[in-house]
Amino acid sequence: MPVSTGKINGRAKVKLKISPAELIFKYYSEAPQAKQILLDHSRLVTRKALKIGRYLQAQGISVDLQFIAEAAMLHDIGMILTDTPELGCHGEGNYLQHGVRGKEILEKEGLPKHARVCERHIGVGLTADEIRQQQLPLPPRDMQPETLEEKIICYADLFYSKGESPNPEKTFGEIREKLGKYGQNKVKVFEQWRKMFEPDLR
Ligand SMILES: [Fe+2]
Repeated sequence: MPVSTGKINGRAKVKLKISPAELIFKYYSEAPQAKQILLDHSRLVTRKALKIGRYLQAQGISVDLQFIAEAAMLHDIGMILTDTPELGCHGEGNYLQHGVRGKEILEKEGLPKHARVCERHIGVGLTADEIRQQQLPLPPRDMQPETLEEKIICYADLFYSKGESPNPEKTFGEIREKLGKYGQNKVKVFEQWRKMFEPDLR
């Protein structure tokens, strides 16, 4: 796959080993509306995730910015296989499955590490017990972000919806309220990440 570079907000380029755009174009060639929605959302998530990555690097923490730039662009690639007409997606199955579908796509493309991000970014992650207890239409396995990069992308994703224009960054309050509907343990995870990733903000 060709090497491409990404430039985010005039910042130093992060060199990529793969071309996320090429992969997105491959799977979204018949769905221009979905492609645009995906690109718009993924660029916002990538920009925020890289900002956090750079902040952590400045604190002396090791972060793989190249991986973040690639995986954040691809984390929602599976939505095209779900039945979500409002996003221009006319596949089968519940939108909740966009993570596992994305994992399947990226594994097929030989990107198992990126594939993990797809599956592990729903909300702040899901446990096998939650999937079983809530009878979610997902395979009952642990789908929680584990690596620092997986957590950063999962966190950044919470701030942006899809298919909205303009698409302003959500406030902490809005995110807490939304996660709170799924349990205070979800809000707690978000708060842990917020303190780590954006300690100066409330
Ligand atoms: Fe997303």
